[in-house]
Amino acid sequence: MTTIVDGDIALLTGGARGMAYGLASKFLKDGGKVIIVDINQKALDEAEKELKKEGTVYAYKCDIGSCDDIHELADKVHNDVGLIDILVNAAGYVTYGGTKFLDQPEETYKKTIDINVMGIMWMTRAFLPDLIKKRRGHVINFASSAGLLGVPLLATYCASKHAVIGFTESIEHEMSMDGLMDVRLSAVCPLVVETGMFKGLVTGPIHGVTTENAVEIIYNGMRENRSMIGVPPYAPAAIISKLIDKPILYKLLKAVGMDLADWTVGLTGRLPSGKVRYEPEKE
Ligand SMILES: NC(=O)c1ccc[n+]([C@@H]2O[C@H](COP(=O)([O-])OP(=O)(O)OC[C@H]3O[C@@H](n4cnc5c(N)ncnc54)[C@H](O)[C@@H]3O)[C@@H](O)[C@H]2O)c1
Repeated sequence: MTTIVDGDIALLTGGARGMAYGLASKFLKDGGKVIIVDINQKALDEAEKELKKEGTVYAYKCDIGSCDDIHELADKVHNDVGLIDILVNAAGYVTYGGTKFLDQPEETYKKTIDINVMGIMWMTRAFLPDLIKKRRGHVINFASSAGLLGVPLLATYCASKHAVIGFTESIEHEMSMDGLMDVRLSAVCPLVVETGMFKGLVTGPIHGVTTENAVEIIYNGMRENRSMIGVPPYAPAAIISKLIDKPILYKLLKAVGMDLADWTVGLTGRLPSGKVRYEPEKE
């Protein structure tokens, strides 16, 4: 079981808002210290002020889509605070949800991969050595249920989140190969959480989970050392769809009167064209 020991240091990207902010508050209540990292200075200042009511908080502005920013962040954190125990990679980016891959502006492909994939790799390179030195700790990488199955009209985001799951699992194996059984990794797979990230989504039959519930599920999943944390817990069952050949799947959907848009996205909600467009503010 991963528990926060008094004085443990947790670093959370995207920590100014949403699920990472909620986790930061949980860690403080357990006696940990937290470092929140975000691209949005205004949200960061507000979050720092609020969280400081609960314990020791450090806040750093950083664009995790930039390798240079991450190098600078690592220097500052190691100088000002020390080696960390828990790394939460939550900052994420989605754009042009509801748009076919070929209709998305070309530059959005790279930006999505830079933030959602390279950001996690650079953060891991910068901070995993802290946990290895201490021979304990936990890395929580935010993937998505879109990392478990192909989602029409969300291909770029989907590709990035598949990468997060494979990366997390591979590093978990590497820790085990080196006998580092107390350096744990978890991939978080939310369906839809009402944080505002998927603002344009019109909710479908499977309703979104509240941010508070999501934080509780992730926190408990971490304590139970789960390699994959579904939000809600049944979300990882989506992976079963990979085993079905697509022409068979399309026939099955037709037989029950569903079209492709009802599949995956339709269950969680509709993606009106171009509406799911999340651009984090920098100020
Ligand atoms: N909310 C959902 O329904 C949902 C579903 C599946 C997966 N996820 C994933 O969960 C994670 C957290 O989502 P959330 O809904 O809590 O997010 P959120 O939108 O509430 O908060 C994300 C935070 O990340 C920050 N951020 C964005 N880009 C950044 C960058 N380049 N550098 C540093 N900070 C940056 C934002 O400013 C914001 O404060 C994301 O990776 C997201 O892809 C969310």
